Amino acid sequence: MKNIVILISGRGSNMEAVVRAAQEQRWPARIAAVISNRADASGLAFAAAQGIATAVVANKDYATRAEFDAALQTVIDGFQPDLVVLAGFMRILTAPFVEHYAGRMLNIHPSLLPLFPGLDTHGQALAAGVSEHGATVHFVTAELDHGPMVLQASVPVLSDDTVASLSARVLSQEHVIYPQAIRWFVEDRLTVAQGAVQVDHSKT
Ligand code: GAR
Repeated sequence: MKNIVILISGRGSNMEAVVRAAQEQRWPARIAAVISNRADASGLAFAAAQGIATAVVANKDYATRAEFDAALQTVIDGFQPDLVVLAGFMRILTAPFVEHYAGRMLNIHPSLLPLFPGLDTHGQALAAGVSEHGATVHFVTAELDHGPMVLQASVPVLSDDTVASLSARVLSQEHVIYPQAIRWFVEDRLTVAQGAVQVDHSKT
């Protein structure tokens, strides 16, 4: 049984998709905790209603990134995680924190990386005039929105798209690929070699 700790900053719809998939598909894993850097993250209520432990480590209470990351790491490690899942966790992480969870921390980013790292990815995609956009699940490395990619989903960009319509189309795919990628991790199907992820599909 693997322990998963999920970090959120807001709505938590990806966290919700992961919790539901873990329950419905009976993963050999438990969601040990949902932790937010904001006390007002609306996703915390869903987690608590599911009987999942919740915690808030508020970045505004710490003077530096290093102090915040150290405090966050202590709370996360109290739940003995095999995997840390960043689900709309809107913080830039320090290198020691990332290193501590090397190979056991996943992120979902709302673009087809390496295109459009950073913020406002849907606005960036519309401004660039691309015909395809999407989302990427990747292992977290020290460089923001980089790291070995596990899974991507693409969606078309339509001529009348707005940030709202495009982000909704991408989000519905995020809710498919994030649970899938995490399930592969939990089932020990993922290996990383030379910066590339291999998925073992031979296991039943
Ligand atoms: C998601 O679209 C996620 O990909 C994005 O924030 C949203 C969170 O929604 N993450 C990032 O931009 C990270 N750089 P959610 O709280 O409903 O899961």
